[in-house]
Amino acid sequence: PEHVAIIMDGNGRWAQQRGKARHAGHRAGVETVRRVIETCGQQGVRVLTLFAFSSENWQRPKTEVKMLMELFFTALNREVRRMKKRNVRLRIIGDISAFSDKLQKLIIESEKTTADNDCLLLQVAANYGGRWDITQAARKLAEQVEQGELKVDQITEETLAQHLSCPDVPEPDLFIRTGGEKRISNFLLWQCAYTELYFCETLWPDFDQEDLLAAFRDYAGRQRRFGRVAEQVS
Ligand code: FPP
Repeated sequence: PEHVAIIMDGNGRWAQQRGKARHAGHRAGVETVRRVIETCGQQGVRVLTLFAFSSENWQRPKTEVKMLMELFFTALNREVRRMKKRNVRLRIIGDISAFSDKLQKLIIESEKTTADNDCLLLQVAANYGGRWDITQAARKLAEQVEQGELKVDQITEETLAQHLSCPDVPEPDLFIRTGGEKRISNFLLWQCAYTELYFCETLWPDFDQEDLLAAFRDYAGRQRRFGRVAEQVS
């Protein structure tokens, strides 16, 4: 797959099973992130999109939200050097205006220092929601109509898609959700229209290289028809 999108689920349960606090699961989850980036780079994946924090995650207990923000900050701070070395470009998608100034600054800085890297594009969805994405794109189009720059009949799937969060990358080929739930949970709703879905029971902190390669093998066996019949695509 060229573009892989992942919902990293199961950190809390992983910690609970070990009698630890939820944040221990999130911390262990960061190790998995590092492993997955490495394997994706080796396997020739061009874009990796990770769901780190959804628009709905603000509803979690205050202490967990605070801890996730801190973890996000320290992980970013620490990993940027490694990303440079591994030729990984970082991009955050989502409404980052809700984050602290300090975190916003670090995000912008990290994106800048990795901007020329071209082995793997790592997109981290933070304060992201698929509905938010489609809504903000619709709003931009409406503004253009209001300004007289766009006619209503010029609103097409293509023009709307151009205003989504990552218009310059191919849509995900493979969507993976760990942790046993079988839901898209408001991730890349528009972009996943024809994405192959893969669900596994493994909790995110336990998700290792073999689990990822198993997902890739499963994907390799799928026939992607994009609405056509088998004879047309084989
Ligand atoms: C879902 O597990 C996981 C999250 C809401 C947070 C994921 C964030 C990380 C792994 C850190 C990411 C950091 C970087 C730098 C990308 P859950 O808490 O919903 O688990 P549960 O379903 O078992 O409760």
